[in-house]
Amino acid sequence: MQAPTLIEHILRSQPHKASGELSRILARLSLAGRMIAQRILNAGFLGEHGEAGSINVQGEEVKKLDLLSNEIFIRVFETLPSVNALGSEEMDDVFYYDDAENRGKYLVLFDPLDGSGNIDINGSLGSIFSVHKRSGKEGRADLADFLQPGNEQIAAGYILYGPATVFVYTVRGQDSVSVFTLDRSIGEFFLTAEGVRIPEGKGSYSVNESNESKWDQKVIDLVRSFRVGTAPVGKRAARYTGALVADFHRTLLKGGIFMYPALSDRPRGKLRYLYEASPLAMIAESAGGAASDGSIRTLDLQPSQLHERCPLFIGSKKDVAYAVQSLGG
Ligand code: AHG
Ligand code: MN
Ligand code: MN
Repeated sequence: MQAPTLIEHILRSQPHKASGELSRILARLSLAGRMIAQRILNAGFLGEHGEAGSINVQGEEVKKLDLLSNEIFIRVFETLPSVNALGSEEMDDVFYYDDAENRGKYLVLFDPLDGSGNIDINGSLGSIFSVHKRSGKEGRADLADFLQPGNEQIAAGYILYGPATVFVYTVRGQDSVSVFTLDRSIGEFFLTAEGVRIPEGKGSYSVNESNESKWDQKVIDLVRSFRVGTAPVGKRAARYTGALVADFHRTLLKGGIFMYPALSDRPRGKLRYLYEASPLAMIAESAGGAASDGSIRTLDLQPSQLHERCPLFIGSKKDVAYAVQSLGG
């Protein structure tokens, strides 16, 4: 029996009175994912690996594929007037189209290419997206419209460019996570899992342990308890790919916890709230899991800037609860 395509699933899941605008946004996100997947496949022999020669607002070396992926996201929404403006890891400020005054109420935030350190070594990569609605005003959205807590998201998800390309998303009020796998031969995403639930009591702990010297002692003790098995929730296997989307997807399907704690030289950690932690927290909670900055529920954090960072503890509900309790949250 042929599984439904992503577009069929989106249309079937939308409320019957819906305008269809969110469905079109999700369809465009899937188009961006398919275009980026193709670009990654061919980058090696098109000379599109390596650095772009610039530093982004994050203070990080920008890769050619970061910029190419960012351009693809800009292009796919150009002809969708329901999307008012964009927020991207790769752009300092809010991005406006020329007709910004006459566009709609949706805001799309994204990390166009996550795990960029894996580009040149053919490791897993991802794109992360978050869809918000702006408050009732007409005309051009402003920065304040983007600075919303994750619990206001309309939809969230990611594309994982691994051995296979998968599209994962959830929509506000549906409380269900669906996974689609790309059939490259026809360029179509097909449903491969729905109603995904994060397993409890097993899986991995995922953290960059080379940062130990920069952690608070409570974090050191917490990570050690997962590694040696003294954690009341049990021992976890060590897994870390350096790409948040890949580490999160494994946690979503196999259980456990991903952690990017605060560092002594980065008190709010490395990961960005609006287009990394917030959308993945919506996915985690829709799959019965949890996400926290170590004391506050990730979806309840109130960002004050577009590229705000936050510590992240995300995965199985009990593992995250144990982490928060251990950190005194
Ligand atoms: P990006 O490539 O979008 O900058 O994201 C990289 C992030 C995230 O994907 C990953 O979990 C984390 O950086 C890895 O950081 P470390 O190399 O410090 O472990
Ligand atoms: Mn990222
Ligand atoms: Mn990125």
